[in-house]
This record gives sequence, C-alpha cells and structure tokens, in this order.
Amino acid sequence: MTTALIILGAGMGTRMNSDLPKVLHEIAGSPMLVHAMKSGAALEPERTVVVAGHGAELVEKAAKAYDPDVTVVIQAEQLGTGHAVRQARDALAGFDGDALVLYGDTPFIRPETLAAMAAARLTHDVVVLGFEAEDPGRYGRLITKDDQLDRIVEFKDSSNEERAVNLCNSGVIMSNCETLFDLIDAIGNDNAAGEYYLTDIIGIARARGLTATVVRCDEAETLGINSRAELSHAEALFQTNARTDGQANGVTLTAPETVFFAHDTVVGRDTVIEPNVVFGPGVTVESGATIRAFSHLEGCHVSRGAVVGPYARLRPGAELAENVKVGNFVEIKNAQIAEGAKVNHLSYVGDAEIGPRSNIGAGTITCNYDGVFKHKTTIGADAFIGSNTMLVAPVTVGDAAMTASGTVVTKNVPAGDLAVARAKQENKTGFAVRLFDKLKARKAKGS
Ligand code: UD1
Ligand code: CA
Repeated sequence: MTTALIILGAGMGTRMNSDLPKVLHEIAGSPMLVHAMKSGAALEPERTVVVAGHGAELVEKAAKAYDPDVTVVIQAEQLGTGHAVRQARDALAGFDGDALVLYGDTPFIRPETLAAMAAARLTHDVVVLGFEAEDPGRYGRLITKDDQLDRIVEFKDSSNEERAVNLCNSGVIMSNCETLFDLIDAIGNDNAAGEYYLTDIIGIARARGLTATVVRCDEAETLGINSRAELSHAEALFQTNARTDGQANGVTLTAPETVFFAHDTVVGRDTVIEPNVVFGPGVTVESGATIRAFSHLEGCHVSRGAVVGPYARLRPGAELAENVKVGNFVEIKNAQIAEGAKVNHLSYVGDAEIGPRSNIGAGTITCNYDGVFKHKTTIGADAFIGSNTMLVAPVTVGDAAMTASGTVVTKNVPAGDLAVARAKQENKTGFAVRLFDKLKARKAKGS
C-alpha cells in the first residue's frame, strides 16, 4: 500500500516561550519535525505534507532541507487538529493510498510501531496509535467497545467514567486518504475547546459502519514536547538510547553519561570514546578509532585506527584517513588528512590537504582567510612542517619538504626543499646582563 504522511506542525507552542516555531526546536542536533519525518520514512511514503502555521517559512526551510520533495501547506488559523489535516487535502488530491497523520512535536515513534499500524490497516478502516498512560492527565481517551475502537473523547469533553480510562490517544492516525478527508468533512467544532478535533473521525467512522482499531505502543514513544523542560527530557531520553545502542554495537564508552550523540552519528565497532565527547550532526567514525576526552566533532569522517584528542575539534569537512593522529587543542576544518599524518598539538588546519605520513608541528596555522576569500593549503607526502609555521594560503608544500620552525610560508615550497622565512638570529655578547643591571639600578633609585 502506498502511503502519504501528513505531519502537523502549525501550533504555536506557547509553552516553549520562544520565537522559534515549536517543531524546530532540536533534539540531538535536528529539529523535532525532522525526527517525525524520519519516523514516517519507515513506511516509505510516496508523498509528505507538512502543515505549518506559526513560523511557516522557517518550518518549510527545515522540512525541505531534509526532504526537498515535501509539500508544505499553511494553516493560517489553528482551529484544531482536524482542521489542520484538512489543509492537506489539495496537496493530496487524487492520491488513492493511505494517509498517516503524525505530529511534528512527537519525535520518537519507532518504525516497528508504524509497521504494526500498516499491518492493522489490512483489517481495519481506521487505525489509531494508543498507549497505556501511567498518568493519563489531559490526553484524549480511547473508548473501545467489543473488539473495536468506538470513539475518542478529549479530556475537556470527558465524563468522570471516561477519565478513568488509561488507554490514551497518541495522535497518530492512519486510514485510506480519501476516507480520511471524507470523515474530516463531517467534523464540527461544537465542543469544549471550540476546535475541529481530528479525534472525532473515529465516532463518525463507526457510525458509518467503518471499522476502527488501536495499535498500542510504549508511552515513551508517543512523548510529545510542549515546554523546554520536556525538550530537555526528550534530549536525555534520546541520549540514553543512543548510548545503549552504541554499546550494543560494540563501541566502548568509558563514561557513557558524558558522551552526547547527534541524531545521525555513526560509530564503528571497537572504537573507544572517552569521557566528555560531543558529536554534532554528520559524523562517521569507523571501527577501531579512539576519540579521546573533551573532543567535539561535527560533519566529519574519522577512519579506522585514527586517534583524535584529547581536546580536539573536528569541524565540517574534516576527513581523517586511517591511523591519522589529531592531538590536543587542534582544530581541523574542511581538510583531508591522509593516512598516518599527524597534527599533534595546538594547530589550525583549514581548507587544506595533507599528504600521507606528514608531520605538522605544534602551533602550525593554515592562514586560509584573507578577510574576504578562503584559500587552500596543500602539503605533500612525508613533509615536515616545523613548529609555529604560518602557511599563508594559497600555498603548496611539496613531498618530503620541510619548513623551519617559525617560518611564514608565502611561496610554494618545492619537493625536498627546506623553507626558512624568519629573521636571522644574532647573539649580542653579554648584552642581557648589561641591560638587566641598568634596569635594576634604575628601579633601586625609584625612578
Ligand atoms: C491531541 C489529541 C489528543 C491526544 C494528544 C496527544 C486532538 C483533538 N487531540 O491533543 O487526543 O491525546 O494530541 O498528544 O487531536 N496542530 C496544528 N493545528 C491546529 C492544532 C494542532 O497543526 O490547529 C498541531 C500542533 O502543532 C501539534 C499537534 O497538532 O503538533 C497536536 O496539537 P495539540 O494542540 O497539542 O493537541 P492536544 O490538545 O495535545
Ligand atoms: Ca499536545
């Protein structure tokens, strides 16, 4: 069965107290909207429609950054979840598959759960994702009768008897797309909130002789985020899971609770991650690497056997080949470091290519930025860059070439040459002693 996703994200998220639309607040370096889109991807949707309202332009940008084919429709006024889904009708005109409604603020729905819903759709017209709530609070209650889901009652509209029901509505609903819009047409807003409740479609469907059922999932999966406190709680949950998964996949975490992963971090088997390491988005670390304490990695690739840190920063475009060493207080950005090369201490390497086995001395800087443009530094194989070399890009240092410590390299260095560019040293005999004596004498006189 082909599926279309309808993701609701028009709400203001008042309790976030933010200029940013709620669904763009991030978990593990990615907007919660994108987490929802990724969940939905489990059903390989043919179309995705995001319903935006508050901050629609920003929402559209974020949605399209993840999936350029997504359609964003606007719900100018937030008149309820049913009204929100209705905004997707034109975008899905003629689509004869199933529609799955997800919330943009509910980021943790598992692929297996959506697969179970798709399976339940084979036998029922409408499928709702529910959960047994520890504290059902203000959730909508799922009212079952015989073996069917009979209706959903919103908390505000519920009786005491209905409030005693623990089976709650997650908000995730699946049915045939045309059926869904037909049912939504019949929704009114004569209720405690004066809203068009999507949840009313169940009662309407049943009255029309359609079938409805509940697929159950764990409460943690349907966790919705409404405040900064809930956001940080969701982040913590994500991190706990990521650490457990990492360990199950054969990654050593010395102090798991201090390591933070991004939504897309990939780490290979037998890699060791020491305490206090933070991963931004877009990082792949191959097997058998070591990421030492207090390092920060983002948008980079670390190959087998490489050692990074302690206190290293790998920024987007850093590519470390096998057995590369990047040491303390080193920053690498948009640079390819070839096999076995070492950048061990206090260096900045940006917009550069470093050949195999080259050694970059302490304090080396690629001066890549002239204030307007970025320029490239190329270093060949087996080169030796002396400590505190300034490589003023664009510049090339050839294979097996050297630079003297403190050299400011402004011209290319041919293979095998030594570049020295610094003032020649002169020693003035006894000068230091004479100067000190003079200064001390002056101090003694009090002037
Ligand atoms: C909804 C359900 C409730 C369920 C709960 C689960 C309805 C009527 N109620 O209640 O049964 O237990 O979710 O969390 O569906 N949105 C729009 N446009 C609108 C209204 C909402 O896009 O006009 C979006 C919001 O941005 C949010 C989602 O829909 O992502 C849910 O809306 P919200 O107002 O939080 O619904 P609840 O009252 O929590
Ligand atoms: Ca809600």
